[in-house]
Order: sequence, then C-alpha cells, then structure tokens
Amino acid sequence: MPIPKAELHLHIEGTLEPELAFALAARNGVELPYADTDALREAYRFQDLQSFLNLYYELMTVLRTERDFEDLADAYLARAAAQGVRHAEVFFDPQAHLARGVGMGTVVEGLWRALGRSEEKHGVSTRLIMCFLRDESAESAMAALDAAKPHLDRITGVGLDSAEVGHPPAKFREVYEAAAALGLRRVAHAGEEGPPEYVTEALDVLGVERVDHGLRCVEDPALVERLVRERVPLTLCPLSNVRLRTVDTLADHPLPAMLDAGLLCTVNSDDPAYFGGYAGDNFDAVRETLGLGPERLRELARNSFLASFLDDDEERRARYLAEVEAYDFG
Ligand code: ADE
Ligand code: ZN
Repeated sequence: MPIPKAELHLHIEGTLEPELAFALAARNGVELPYADTDALREAYRFQDLQSFLNLYYELMTVLRTERDFEDLADAYLARAAAQGVRHAEVFFDPQAHLARGVGMGTVVEGLWRALGRSEEKHGVSTRLIMCFLRDESAESAMAALDAAKPHLDRITGVGLDSAEVGHPPAKFREVYEAAAALGLRRVAHAGEEGPPEYVTEALDVLGVERVDHGLRCVEDPALVERLVRERVPLTLCPLSNVRLRTVDTLADHPLPAMLDAGLLCTVNSDDPAYFGGYAGDNFDAVRETLGLGPERLRELARNSFLASFLDDDEERRARYLAEVEAYDFG
C-alpha cells in the first residue's frame, strides 16, 4: 500500500480521462472534435499552461448534469484511494460551467453526491474549494461567489486559477475579502508561470494560507526565507510542471532544494488525466527521478496533512499523521 497522503491541489475537471469524456459526450449528445480516445490523447502535448487550458476548457463541455459531476468525482476518488490518498481537497471551476449554462447547484450538488459518500465508499475524507478564473473579470468572480452562497455548507474555501501571467492576484482583492467575510479559507495559484512577486501579492493582498505551485519562489531568496519563516505550504505538482514545461525535465525540478531550504512542500497531481499521473504517481516519480529517500517521502506525506484544512477535525488529522509515522517503506 502506498504511503498515506492528502491531495491538496487537484482540479476535478482535470481528472476527466478520455474514456469518461467520450462516455459523457455520448450520454449528452455532445460532439467532440476527436475521432477516438487515441486521437484525443495525441492532443496532450502542451507547450505551456495556455495550450493545456484550451483543451481543458474544450473537454469540460461534456459535463452537463449532476450525475456527470458525480461520476467524474467518484472516478477520481476511486483512483486517488488506490494511490494512498486519505484526504482530498478538491478544486472546481464554477465560472467555466456557469458560462455554458450549467448552474452552480448542478455542479456543487453533483460533486457532493460523490464527495459526501467518499469516506464510506473510498475511505477518503474530502473538502471542496471553488476557484475563480483569473483571466475573467473580478465582477465575474464576485458573481460566482454570490451564486455559491446557497451552497456554502459544501464549500470550504476559494482559490484562483487559469492563465496566470498578466492577471496578478491583486485584481481579486475585493472578492477574497468577501470570501473571507463568509468564513471561507483562501488559497491561490501563484508562481507557476507568473513571477515571484505574484506569490508575495497572494499572501499580502489576498491573505492566502497556502500557495498553489509557488515554484518560482526559488528565484527570490528573501521570499523563500519568508515562506520558511511563516510556514506557508506550497502545493507542488511535479508531473504538471514537466508537461507544461515549467521545468525542462523532472530531473531539473527544484523540489529537493526546496525541501533542503526548509519549505513546507507538498506533492500533488493538479490535472492527473492530462499530466500522466495521480498523487501516488507523482510521489513515485520524485522518488525515482529525484532520488528522494524514505524520510523525505514521509516528510512530504506529513506536510500534506499539516497543510490540509482539517482544522475542524484535529482528531482525524492526528490519526492520519500517526498513519504516516507508522508507515513502513519495507
Ligand atoms: N486550471 C487547471 N489546472 C491549472 C493549472 N495548472 N494552473 C492554472 N490553472 C489551472
Ligand atoms: Zn492547478
């Protein structure tokens, strides 16, 4: 059994495997511009974040009903459980669905049909985090937050994703203030393709508690020092970074140096259907390619639970942490 871990950076729409995409397209009478799953997989060659996002938004048009979102999330949770995920904090992109006429209730309640049963069915506890699309307007983000108000019992926090460069965190200051006033936790993608300054802005202007990716912090030693001092978790996604060419090869990934620097790093899958692996696959890849030993892997697993939003269930967090400490690498 793989080491127990929490997944903290996972876009549920990015778990849409080609087979499920075609099945949902057939169910909903949606035409996909690919002959079959092999032809679709051929399109999974990305130059950068934007080239991935184009396909990601195109494919999610097959998601229409509550049952579609339930099936998507249930398939993810089954795969995650098989790779040792004990707790998953799941992102979703409501604006991408609202823009197509799919309502917030359809998305949230559909996802919840799977997430709400996940513990009993898969042994995976869950949280739900709604992300704002940073390449859309702040008004659109605020409208999405408004639309989420009847569903806040299902939603733990807010995040910020999509095309990063040219869309600095400060654009969403008021939205994050409103989210905080509603009692929502705050995270944001920053320093994936964007500069280290976006990481600082996400912390100072948006008040985020975790930074998604944050990879480019390594370019700014003073920022690294701050992130270490303030124990700010970073949700890294090594296989994603390779596929989106944020790093040249996995062997060049700065994860070992980041751990040596004392950063609170976690390893996650981002969009596993597109990037070649789920959470356990990412752990395996950094073990094999970056030579991380058992104690480094245990540290990554421990960090994932420490960085999780389990503050309302410390007993559970302690149980998961005990599982990590007791894990025998054999
Ligand atoms: N949306 C889905 N995956 C993303 C990523 N890696 N970066 C930004 N937005 C995303
Ligand atoms: Zn992401």
